[in-house]
Amino acid sequence: MTTTTTNKVIWSDLIKIGNSDIDGQHKLLVELINSFYDVVINKLPTGQKKMEELEHYVQYHIQCEEGILLKAKYPDLADHQISHTELTSVVSDVVNRLLYLPVVDEQIELINSLQNFWINHIKDQDMQFKTHLSNSFEKNKYVA
Ligand SMILES: [Fe+2]
Ligand SMILES: [Fe+2]
Repeated sequence: MTTTTTNKVIWSDLIKIGNSDIDGQHKLLVELINSFYDVVINKLPTGQKKMEELEHYVQYHIQCEEGILLKAKYPDLADHQISHTELTSVVSDVVNRLLYLPVVDEQIELINSLQNFWINHIKDQDMQFKTHLSNSFEKNKYVA
């Protein structure tokens, strides 16, 4: 029996960056985090595997995104990398603790905080390079 409300996020185009690779990965991560609610509420045996999937996918996303930003000569890449280090440590904290918390409500709260952190990363950090990426894409369109 749970009393804590889940924060299942429904993907919205309002948080699109405008790069289809990045947006696709952002959406997939939102859905992956959402899926953890079912894991803890229904005590699914897939929890450990999904944790590994989350950790790997976050690393994959960070590498892709930083690669794109490097190519686009994003001037604030170093700061963005710092925010990715923070993201990595939040995710590994969740991976290390989630399945071992004894109370489902505590697990839901931890997933809520991860989902909030992730959405805020997109809104507050990734949104900052939206304009730069679209400008650099426009410029490159004319390079033969
Ligand atoms: Fe991102
Ligand atoms: Fe990012």
